[in-house]
Amino acid sequence: MISLTPARVASSFSRPAVAAALPAARCSFGKMRQGGYMVSSDVVNNAARGGAGAPSGARGTVTAATGGGGAPAGNIVDAITDDHKRLFSYCDQLRGQGLGHDQREHLRHQLVHDLAVHSLSEEEVLYPALKNACGNEMRNHVLDEHTTLKHILMDIDKMDADDPNFNPRLDELVHELRHHVQEEEEKVLPMFASKVPTSDLEHLGDKFERTKGQVPTRPHILAPNKPATGNVVVDRLTAPLDKLRDSAGGREV
Ligand SMILES: [Fe+2]
Ligand SMILES: [Fe+2]
Repeated sequence: MISLTPARVASSFSRPAVAAALPAARCSFGKMRQGGYMVSSDVVNNAARGGAGAPSGARGTVTAATGGGGAPAGNIVDAITDDHKRLFSYCDQLRGQGLGHDQREHLRHQLVHDLAVHSLSEEEVLYPALKNACGNEMRNHVLDEHTTLKHILMDIDKMDADDPNFNPRLDELVHELRHHVQEEEEKVLPMFASKVPTSDLEHLGDKFERTKGQVPTRPHILAPNKPATGNVVVDRLTAPLDKLRDSAGGREV
């Protein structure tokens, strides 16, 4: 199994292809919502943006990249790419050595929270715009991949980090996530950025960050994964319930 460090992810899925693809065609987007998103923890020490270079699995230390909700968004390509790095940083630390049970549990909660929020925010903000700019086929493909990820994440949400089945399931998640992220960063986002004006990419980046504070914080599969026009709307209804469960369960992410 290939070990996926944040530095490797950063180098494998860097942005030159996206940066090279400059705006061309016109798209229009709806009004932005208000909202906010905070990540806080006394366990997590913020590392450099993107997590690259952070000590991987250092004994007794859990690291997290900044760039979650509340951070200056930049454009949506940068916001999504920063999220990807942070998600891989959590996975890398969970697959490392030397962390205690509480630290592994904290990382597991953080991974579930951030991947659920990231996926749903993409579905609400990026994918509708992607459908407009690039068509149904690409949008439906990435939605199918999200459903695969959500199935695995639902298992991880229920497992203790020291469960003997946890690491194999985490390996599956990393495998699927790596494939999905590679597609988004090497194909989907460059094509999208080539068809959307810079100002719209920036507006979508703001909207993406704000949406993170409004979507559910756990994975939900509410319907067979076909063009998820209804899924996002229904998912929104579960957001307050997820947050109550996070509080009741002592999850602090
Ligand atoms: Fe993504
Ligand atoms: Fe995605």
